[in-house]
Amino acid sequence: MKKYLVIGNPIDHSLSPVLHNCWIKQNLIHAIYEKKKLNSKDLENLILDVKKGKINGLNVTVPFKNVIIEYLDELSNEAKKTQSVNTIYLKDKKIVGHNTDIEGFENAIQSINFNFKGKKVFILGAGGVVPSIIYASIKMEAAKIMISNRTKKKAEGLKFFFNNIELVNWGEVPDFDVIINATSLGLKKDDKINLDFTKVGKNKLFYDVIYNPGETNFLKLGKKLGNKCENGKLMFVYQAFSAFKLWHGIDPLINDETMKLLD
Ligand code: ATR
Repeated sequence: MKKYLVIGNPIDHSLSPVLHNCWIKQNLIHAIYEKKKLNSKDLENLILDVKKGKINGLNVTVPFKNVIIEYLDELSNEAKKTQSVNTIYLKDKKIVGHNTDIEGFENAIQSINFNFKGKKVFILGAGGVVPSIIYASIKMEAAKIMISNRTKKKAEGLKFFFNNIELVNWGEVPDFDVIINATSLGLKKDDKINLDFTKVGKNKLFYDVIYNPGETNFLKLGKKLGNKCENGKLMFVYQAFSAFKLWHGIDPLINDETMKLLD
């Protein structure tokens, strides 16, 4: 039986096993997908297990998407450009790291019929998923990408990789067409982002990477102010879709049943 794992710390909240095991069952694949909490010192041995074929594929989540890179033999272009790996597999005896968060974000935006071309995109946060969102926004031909992070140094680090992005001081709200919350603010129901959105106008896209809770205070406010709102559920589903396709060579189903698994 083939074995797949999602690794992270914490990992309890991860819904990847539910989704992947549903697709594994639907496609009659002889495999199992589990989650494993670990520490940085465990990464080397885990990758050895992939090399030996004891584990057939890995998904990687916070906080290992970058630190895992040093143990891999090859990176896809997307993983290289973002220095972020969320999917690992063995190819010709080499451990390859890929990033399906980019496709996940692009497909999520496409599926709500929103077009980034020529748009001003304002991203809040500078954590693990932000390089993927910047890369996807560039691919989708956004006109301007602005980043604001509480700790400015981290945002400056991103500018090193993506020199066309503009940095915005935390607390300031520039003119934008799309705003993306990529901070962890909103994971707790009472979390509020302390920014003044009252002057941003209507008909923008408020996008939250968080999907649990399904409607953060950030999205609630966006809606109240007359904007289009979307949570990160589809991004999560599509990044899993791309990993599944890569490992098993099959397009899994995305329908009401799969979406309900994540409620
Ligand atoms: P990591 O930073 O380890 O990659 P993450 O969950 O991907 O973890 O990122 C957390 C993001 O939420 C960061 O951008 C963080 O800002 P800092 O870099 O200043 O820590 C942001 N964040 C978390 N709590 C916040 C708060 N109370 N106010 C503003 N931003 C916050």
